[in-house]
Amino acid sequence: MVEGKGISQAVISRLPRYFRYLGELRDDGVERISSQDLSRLMKVTASQIRQDFNNFGGFGQQGYGYNVEYLYQEIGKILGLDVEHHLIIVGAGNLGQALANYMNFEKRGFITQGIFDINPELYGKEVRNLTVQPMDKIEQCIQENNIDIAVLTIPKNSAVKVAEKLVGYGIKAIWNFAHVDLNLPDGIQVENVHLSDSLMKLSYTISCYENQK
Ligand code: NAI
Repeated sequence: MVEGKGISQAVISRLPRYFRYLGELRDDGVERISSQDLSRLMKVTASQIRQDFNNFGGFGQQGYGYNVEYLYQEIGKILGLDVEHHLIIVGAGNLGQALANYMNFEKRGFITQGIFDINPELYGKEVRNLTVQPMDKIEQCIQENNIDIAVLTIPKNSAVKVAEKLVGYGIKAIWNFAHVDLNLPDGIQVENVHLSDSLMKLSYTISCYENQK
């Protein structure tokens, strides 16, 4: 359960996908959509959609369908996307630079304000609109730019120590790509991302499919 709101993690984990589809519908000029049509589009059952939305009061008049713009805005608010988030990237290697180069995060209100590394050879390197800076500049950057999220793209052997330091500097949330669990104080939000987990799931579905033949 999500603390204080009583909404299950399973429901929360489906919201970004609703948000994405609704954004596309909105961009295509669609004003209303029924749960059946949304169900066909997203390949989830209409009852699942209704159940998910009922957690938040239902969002709309059944029979007339959902108002796409309203639903998009409301789900955005639930996801906290109605406020800007300020990010820093820690670790300016392959992954850190790839994330810094990805511009779509900004469209969702995630603004990257700095990228940091311990390797002096990277200092001064331009990555899109950012310049790689040494780690001793990180505290000032966090405090001056109201940074709330740190993206951790460093090796696992240093990730725990770095994460603890970042929390000491005032970071409230970590998007953790390092392959290590971070045990941080209560109130610090951590979202672990492991692309290899997703690849292993794909491997599983391939082997299930092959075994059925
Ligand atoms: P990389 O070696 O290209 O970059 C790592 C960077 O971190 C280097 O520039 C290095 O100087 C810097 N670094 C090391 N220790 C540091 C510290 N204490 N403070 C600041 N910077 C530090 O590696 P890559 O490919 O960018 O991967 C980064 C990490 O992310 C690795 O640990 C890798 O295993 C992990 N990874 C995770 C994925 C995921 O899905 N979770 C996918 C790909 C990589």
